Amino acid sequence: MRKNIVAGNWKMHKTHSETIALIEEIVLKKQNTSTEIIVAPTFVNLQTAVTISEGNNITVAAQNMHQAEGGAFTGEISASMLTNIGVNTVILGHSERRAYFHETDALLANKVDTALKHNMRVIFCFGEELKDRQINNHFNVVEYQLRDALFHLQKSDWSNIILAYEPVWAIGTGETASPEQAQEMHAFIRSLIEKVYGNDVAENVSILYGGSVKPENAKEIFSKKDVDGGLIGGAALKADDFLAIVNGF
Ligand code: 13P
Repeated sequence: MRKNIVAGNWKMHKTHSETIALIEEIVLKKQNTSTEIIVAPTFVNLQTAVTISEGNNITVAAQNMHQAEGGAFTGEISASMLTNIGVNTVILGHSERRAYFHETDALLANKVDTALKHNMRVIFCFGEELKDRQINNHFNVVEYQLRDALFHLQKSDWSNIILAYEPVWAIGTGETASPEQAQEMHAFIRSLIEKVYGNDVAENVSILYGGSVKPENAKEIFSKKDVDGGLIGGAALKADDFLAIVNGF
């Protein structure tokens, strides 16, 4: 059975003290739930986030990671640096990393390999731009992104992969894919995985939707059969909004 997951990608928001305050508020207010709650603060606040989250059923994830084991890569963070402080989940391939830091599917394939080698879970993000959807090319774009970054993996690797479909035109814009558009794409993604890896992998992989998910629209999006949760940006920065989204299941 695949898991329901709601993950907050905090991007470049929240100082150290704000990180403590937000996680403490989430811990205080959250109800018992079978949905996995993930928070992804910025690198410098990860260790504190792990300490506060421990024993509270909150997973801490990194927002990025370098593909090399170590070396002369000024400003970068390796997989073992993350796992050593108890961070075993990493977001890779976010559209902001692709757009502003020129991350390609080939590079992301390397990053995914490194993360899996370290037994980390990967939340792999992908999704089309508006121009692709306008010319009805969105299914192709998504297929190529998955093929080039993930389809070299072994079947067994998929237990550590979480997919996050984030149409770029819906990120931070207030414009959400309709629940039907999300379901249509998620069903397509699951059928692709089934074609390449078979039914058991396809049925067990969690596919999250990301892009302007809010307390007002989460429930309807999450009610769709192939939507297993969300990757939340703006609305993850307030405990009440984030938890309202978590409670959308
Ligand atoms: P918003 O929820 O702010 O649109 O951001 C989505 C996102 O990029 C999550 O990774």
